Order: sequence, then C-alpha cells, then structure tokens
Amino acid sequence: MQIHPNELADRYAWLQRELARLEHAYYVLDDPLLPDNEYDRLYRELLAIESIHPEWVGPDSLSQRVGGAPLREFDSVRHSVPMLSLNNAFEISDIEGFDRRCREGLHLDLVEYSGELKFDGLAVSLRYENGILVRAATRGDGVNGEDVTENVRTIRSIPLRLAGNKIPSIIEVRGEVFMYLKDFLSMNEKAVALGEKEFANPRNAAAGSLRQLDSKITAKRPLSFFAYGLGEVEPQSWIPQTHNELLDVFSTFGLPVCSERRILNSISEMMEFYEAVGEKRASLPYDIDGVVYKVNSLAEQNRLGFVSRAPRFALAHKYPAQEALTRIVGIDVQVGRTGAITPVARLAPVDVGGVTVTNATLHNEDEVLRKDVRIGDTVIVRRAGDVIPEVVSVVLDRRQGNEVKFVMPLRCPICDSHIERLDGEAIARCSGGLFCGAQRKQALLHFAHRRALDIEGLGEKIVEQLVDSNLVRTPADLYQLKASDLENLDRMGKKSADNLLKSINHSLNTTLERFIFALGIRHVGETTAKDLASHYGSIQLLMNAPLEGLLIVHDVGPIVANSICSFMSESHNRVVIEKLLASGMRLNVDEGKINPVVSGKTFVLTGVFPTMTRDEARDLLEKAGAKVAGAVSKNTDYLVAGVDAGSKLAKARELNIEVIDESTMLKLVLN
Ligand code: IVH
Repeated sequence: MQIHPNELADRYAWLQRELARLEHAYYVLDDPLLPDNEYDRLYRELLAIESIHPEWVGPDSLSQRVGGAPLREFDSVRHSVPMLSLNNAFEISDIEGFDRRCREGLHLDLVEYSGELKFDGLAVSLRYENGILVRAATRGDGVNGEDVTENVRTIRSIPLRLAGNKIPSIIEVRGEVFMYLKDFLSMNEKAVALGEKEFANPRNAAAGSLRQLDSKITAKRPLSFFAYGLGEVEPQSWIPQTHNELLDVFSTFGLPVCSERRILNSISEMMEFYEAVGEKRASLPYDIDGVVYKVNSLAEQNRLGFVSRAPRFALAHKYPAQEALTRIVGIDVQVGRTGAITPVARLAPVDVGGVTVTNATLHNEDEVLRKDVRIGDTVIVRRAGDVIPEVVSVVLDRRQGNEVKFVMPLRCPICDSHIERLDGEAIARCSGGLFCGAQRKQALLHFAHRRALDIEGLGEKIVEQLVDSNLVRTPADLYQLKASDLENLDRMGKKSADNLLKSINHSLNTTLERFIFALGIRHVGETTAKDLASHYGSIQLLMNAPLEGLLIVHDVGPIVANSICSFMSESHNRVVIEKLLASGMRLNVDEGKINPVVSGKTFVLTGVFPTMTRDEARDLLEKAGAKVAGAVSKNTDYLVAGVDAGSKLAKARELNIEVIDESTMLKLVLN
C-alpha cells in the first residue's frame, strides 16, 4: 500500500505531537500513558519517516534529543534581560527587613509573597520563539552565558515545542537544571561498575553534565528541570498578573514546575513555610539549599526593581550549611557489592545539620591524592540529602606536620584477596569474586542467573537469607543444602523448598560456557565465556591457562586475560571450582552442530511453549545456526507460536509467514 505524501506528512506531524504528549506524561507528570515498547514503536516510525524526508527534520523534532556532533567550545550568549542572583537570608530579622523594604518601596501595608524552593542545581534560560526552543544558555556572569542548546535539547522534561495556544512570540523561561537523588545515585553506581569517575554530589553532576561539549554524553545523563522565572517576553501584554499564575501558565505549556509552593501573606506564614519545608527537606527527592520568597504581583516586582545584581523583590532564605569542621582519625577502605574499594574517612563525631556524622566517603584513591587528605587532618565535611557525607577539603592552616598519608591496602579487608586497580580505571577492586563476603550475594545471584546456571527460584530474597544465616558462603555451598535448611527460611514452604532443591540439582547438568560465565569473572560476559569454552574445552585447561595462552583466544585482549589470570590465581576461587566439580557438576561441551535446514533462517518466538522456555528454545536454535529476532517482519522465516501468542501471531498471519509449534520446531532443529 502506497501512502500519499500528504498522508505521510500528516502522520509525521501526528507522531511528533503524540510522542511529545507521551514524553510529557512520562517525564513531567511522572504518569506514563503507554508501555515503553509502544513508545519505541512510534519513535522508530518517526525515525523511518525522517530517513525518507530529512528535509522535514526541524529543531523541535523529538529525534533531536540524542545529541549532535561534539563542540570545540561553547558560543557566548548575551542575555537581553540579565540573569540575577538572589540575596541570602538566614535569620528572622533578615526576613523582617526584606518585608519592610518591600512594603515601603511599594507604599503598601501588606505584600503578598509566593514561597517556593531554592533548588541546588544551575540556572539556565530557555528561549522559545513561536513556541519552539531555539536557544538555551547558562547564567554565566549574569550578562553573558554559554550556549548549551544542544545539551538542553537532550533533557526529556524540557519541551522542544510549547504546548497550548496563547503562546507569546518570544519567551525566555528561566529555571534550574538539576538531578534527582535517585538518578544521581544510579548514575554513580553505573560509573563505578564501569571503572569511571564518580560525581561528588548531584549539583556537580548536573553542572558537569550540562557543560559537556559532547551532547551525546549529556543525553545519557539523567538531568531534570524546574521553571521558576521569566526573561525576555514579546508581547509584554502577555505577562500574567502574578508570579504564581506565571508558574501555572508554564505548567500548561508543558514545562515542569515544582508543586511545592505556597502564597504567603505575613512574616509568620513565611517562617512557617520555611520550617515546614525544612522538615521535609531530607525526604525530598532532590537537593535544595533554602526557600525563595518572591513578591507575587509581577507589576509590583517591576516597581521594586533591583540593586546591583540582585532583585529587591526576592529573597533566598537558606538553611544552615550542611557542612562542619572535624578531624580525620583514620582512613579505612570499604568493599562494595561489585568489589569496588572505596576509601572512607573515620571522623571525630560531628553534628552536620542535626545529624551526627562519623564517616565520610573519599570516593577513590585519586580523590584522596587530589585533595591531599591525610589521617589527622582537620577537614570540612558536607552532607546533602540522602547522599553519603563527603570530605570536601582539608583546612591546610590546621596542619601540624605529623599527619599520615593514606596508602591503598594490598589486600581486601573482608576476604584478604588481592586488591587490584587496572590501568586507566579510577576504582580499585577486590579480586575475591566468589569468595568475598561483601560480594557474596551479588556473586550468588549472578551464578544462579537464567543465562548462567539457571537456578529457578533462587532470587534476591532467598539469597539474602541464605547468606545472612550463613548457610551459603559460596556457590559450592548451594549443592550441600538440605530440605531442612530451606524450610526454616521466611516464606518458604515444603513445596517451594523441594522445588528449589530440584532446580539446584538440575543445574548440575550444564554447559562449560554457562559455567565459565557463572563464575562472574570481571570482563567475562556470555560471549567471552562461549569463546573460552570452545577454545579450551575443559575447565581444568582454563584454570591453568597462562596469560600468553589466553591472549590467543578469539576476542580476548590483555584486560580480559589479566582478569582471568588473577581470578584463577586466587586459591579460594580454585577451591570453589573444585568443590563445584566434586558435587557432580557436568560441564557439557557443545560442538555447536550447525543444522543446514535452519541455519541462516530467522525465527521469532512467541507465547508459552509446552516443554521449554523461550530462552531454551532460543539457545537451541542459535546453536543450530538460526537467527532469533524479537519482532516479526517480512524477513522472518518462521514464527514459533505457543499458548497465548498475541500480536506477533496476528502480524505473522498478515505477512503470510509460516507459523509452527514447538514440536515442529524441534523436528526441524533435530532432524
Ligand atoms: S529566582 C530574579 N528562584 O539561585 C531572581 N532562583 O542566587 C533570579 N535558584 O542562579 C533567580 N532556586 O540558580 C530563583 N526558585 C528559585 C531558585 C533559584 C534556585 C538559584 C538560581 C540562581 C540562584 C540565585
């Protein structure tokens, strides 16, 4: 069927609107309207149309959210309306002074204020012309900022085109780019897993991410935004009466606006708001460092104007700094779930914003050297939200000369394995893998994973209990478990205990490649495990392989080879492997028999099969040389349909693709 160009243009416009609506629901309202795969389907359709009609791609196309070519430097942008900073207040007398100056300046007995949060990120100005985002700039010195348009386009909660109808021809929306704490923590966790640098706090992470010259990197960073102010507007007649209405209108434009705001009519209401937000502060999902009071009427704001760099109509009421001075009494290292070693400062106990702090993270070895932190130093520690307190800097004036430098230990404090730090990585790691107490739960979950030894029923809750009750220390202990051990666990009846024992027992019959993958050797994923299995054909040969030998294996480079050698050189890892073999583990080696009937054919699997899981069917097909795809297309040769096959079956019928059941598939593969 040919689509008429006009229909295609209409479809394209509809896709842009629909995708924008879905993004707004997901990223601004936190209320997804469709499952991710449906969104992806529409998005791919958009890309397909754009590949036929590149001339249709505008700056507001949602395909522009992925970032563009890296820049050499940011262009400078002059703010036509300067971006001001706020005066700070700490005491009630500062608030009284502010209110008095506002009342006197406006010749009023009472002034209405709008109270909102002071977000701890960085200010940006978004310029929309005829509703389309044309430029985004940082505050800079308030008059000249940096052009970060490409980067800002990647922030999903910022609309590329404003929604609604009464949109002014020019509007600059001012607000804060920041990072939610949960996004910050998971981003750092990923960085650690990849051996990359961690950010010290969400503010630095937001600033570092926004000021990336490569917008493709920014696109991967979980940045968020709240709108809170106005720059240039054309026509001026558009401007609403009050700040509060302005924020409501922003919201109707599809811009994210924080809902924590209140109209305040007196000093006591301002203080109440400050106290109430202060109590909530630790449980807010982002960092704030105060509240902001703004004269609510925009006309009154104008009349008050500003002195030097700060408006007379607004004031930041800050919370006491979450920082304090204390002494470092020692530096230990902690071992994380993935074996990452983090130096931790033990502190003389100190109150930081109402919480007693005795430990602070020093992130990694380079960070300790960069900040030149030594045992005995007086340091500034900072606490922010739920994030672990950190050592900000050393007070060098207080240094006596007898402070002791930190030395990274050679062995893991938990399991005594070697600590190693690979070239080019910031993070040192314990090489104890299967054996290290800190890594035990993670190692067991990996061992039992569907694509590793596939022990059904051995999930997080069970692993937690098995490790905490000391029943299981290494994967080898799993094979010594008895029904009576399991029945005592929480929420574990006789039947589920039996089932778990059965699947543990079942896992004894496995393949060499799954076994190698299950060991959880760093840098050895499924593909490398496969290559190692077909190269060595036995676990003993792999255990004794010299470095030079490993380097000959397909796709194994020095990093992987070193990682395997150091794993195998730890005697406790070898003991675990020996014990596993002694439990009766059978490591089958697949010859990878290519079957000419299915080799090169593309299968799609759907529904529930009578005798095997879809993963098992996929393995079987792949080993026979077939390809297994996720979606039905005209390139599909067979759809294998089980019970409850849904849309894929309908699609296959529509495209006239041969539909077979599990037993027919088995006949084809095993013929
Ligand atoms: S209004 C006209 N509102 O604080 C006043 N600023 O010291 C312009 N900030 O650079 C700022 N939350 O990065 C305003 N609700 C808020 C804010 C806020 C955080 C930051 C902003 C600005 C700095 C001013």
